[in-house]
Amino acid sequence: APIKVTKICCIGAGYVGGPTCAVIALKCPHIKVTIVDLNQARVDAWNSPDFQLPIYEPGLDEVVRAARGRNLFFSTDVDKGIEEADLIFVSVNTPTKKSGVGAGFAADLNYVELATRRIATVANSSKIVVEKSTVPCRTAESMRTILEANSKPNCRFDILSNPEFLAEGTAIADLFKPDRVLIGSLQTQEGLDACAALAGVYGNWVPKDRILTVGLWSSELSKLAANAMLAQRISSINALSAICEATGANIDEVAHAVGYDSRIGPKFLKASVGFGGSCFQKDILNLVYLSESLHLPEVANYWRQVVDMNEYQKRRFSKRVVDTLFNTITGKRIAVLGFAFKADTGDTRESAAITLIKDFQSERAFVNIYDPQVPHDQIWADLAEASPLTPIDTIKKQVTICSSAMEACKNAEAVVIATEWKEFNEINWEEVYAHMNKPAFVFDGRLLVDEKKLTKIGFTVNTIGRPA
Ligand code: NAD
Ligand code: UGA
Repeated sequence: APIKVTKICCIGAGYVGGPTCAVIALKCPHIKVTIVDLNQARVDAWNSPDFQLPIYEPGLDEVVRAARGRNLFFSTDVDKGIEEADLIFVSVNTPTKKSGVGAGFAADLNYVELATRRIATVANSSKIVVEKSTVPCRTAESMRTILEANSKPNCRFDILSNPEFLAEGTAIADLFKPDRVLIGSLQTQEGLDACAALAGVYGNWVPKDRILTVGLWSSELSKLAANAMLAQRISSINALSAICEATGANIDEVAHAVGYDSRIGPKFLKASVGFGGSCFQKDILNLVYLSESLHLPEVANYWRQVVDMNEYQKRRFSKRVVDTLFNTITGKRIAVLGFAFKADTGDTRESAAITLIKDFQSERAFVNIYDPQVPHDQIWADLAEASPLTPIDTIKKQVTICSSAMEACKNAEAVVIATEWKEFNEINWEEVYAHMNKPAFVFDGRLLVDEKKLTKIGFTVNTIGRPA
């Protein structure tokens, strides 16, 4: 008989577990969904009476308002969540290892393992365990070994891989209407039954032809492959942006012309100051490590270049700022607009802005920062982490966090646009110009401003992928 899912538990209430399982609860009112996390503050924020949720994501608040307390619950009682559920998502963090074997490349699977062991210890009935975190190929095998070695009699565990493809800033839209849902399982009868059970959950709102079912290892590898190929597009266009700046070609025109080829397509070809976010770099390094472990050094080097090009792009941009400002920014004030790694998120993980600001700090410039979403504490924490040897008081002498773009630009020599927030389109540049030191420079790392208009006001404008 087909397995009927009535209770779901999600371990990990982060950027993925929270929105994903909140949407499942919204779309499946007949399923009880409990999202558990060890982090009390995070769970409290998910439960806050005035919906001050722990992550900023357009549309998320409406979803949580509709389902919370009805069939959606947030809790720190991990064991109870596990015990009750017939299907468990493991959606914990898998950061790059900081030390030990594979440090700097391999994924740290400690959190996945701890969650898996907890499931084995606590479960008194059979469970479908779904790997939602992004993990190296064949992690499901390790999970299965741990579960089977520690399970009680009459408890079966079926393991599925169901990687998440949502992008931050558009998470809710992506979850409502995914390009595809990918489910990997063992090709045994039990594996296929478990797969059908999870497909049935998504089938409540996702069209059948968008639910792809494949083998476990293909599913795990497809997630790394998708992120690697997306990041590769950005590194390709960014590599071309350097050629544009040196030759007089315009990267927007090049991207447009190239993207018109239906085989290439127009999306994800926007040159930038470099990609950020918690996953692209981590997942590529993970793929590099996997390739090396499989004795495929040529493959490892190929993918490593995508990350190297991104580092180069960030360095190239901060060098352009210094070069243009007469080869020194010491003692000058630079306004950095945007700190999040992309628009419509408060997430700053691996944001290019952090690298730029660190470069400006080492040139002994003063930096004013404005971002519409990122909490100030987060900015201080990121800057402290980026310069572990510099006391925070020293950082605070050099850096000021401002509460508007206008305030950040006051008395600055240069404005640097690091994130493509919509509100930066509405800046009153005449007024900004009036309050800046002259000559006044704008460095656009996001192809956001109208170069002609700003030049007319009096700015010297430098745009990524266009000659000065
Ligand atoms: P996150 O750090 O925001 O959330 C992970 C949560 O898991 C944390 O709140 C942490 O406290 C909790 N946790 C860790 N170990 C636990 C345990 N043993 N028991 C209970 N809770 C535990 O991470 P995230 O951004 O949600 O990413 C989760 C996974 O999804 C990662 O593997 C990531 O690569 C992948 N992913 C992320 C995105 C994204 O946009 N952020 C998109 C697709 C896939
Ligand atoms: C990315 C993928 O798009 C998701 O499919 C995936 O699920 C997710 O990673 C993940 O595994 O974590 P995300 O990092 O949230 O999503 O955001 P993206 O929109 O992909 O942007 C990543 C970075 O690339 C941002 O810094 C963005 O500004 C930059 N970018 C994006 C460009 O510089 N140019 C582009 O054309 C597109």
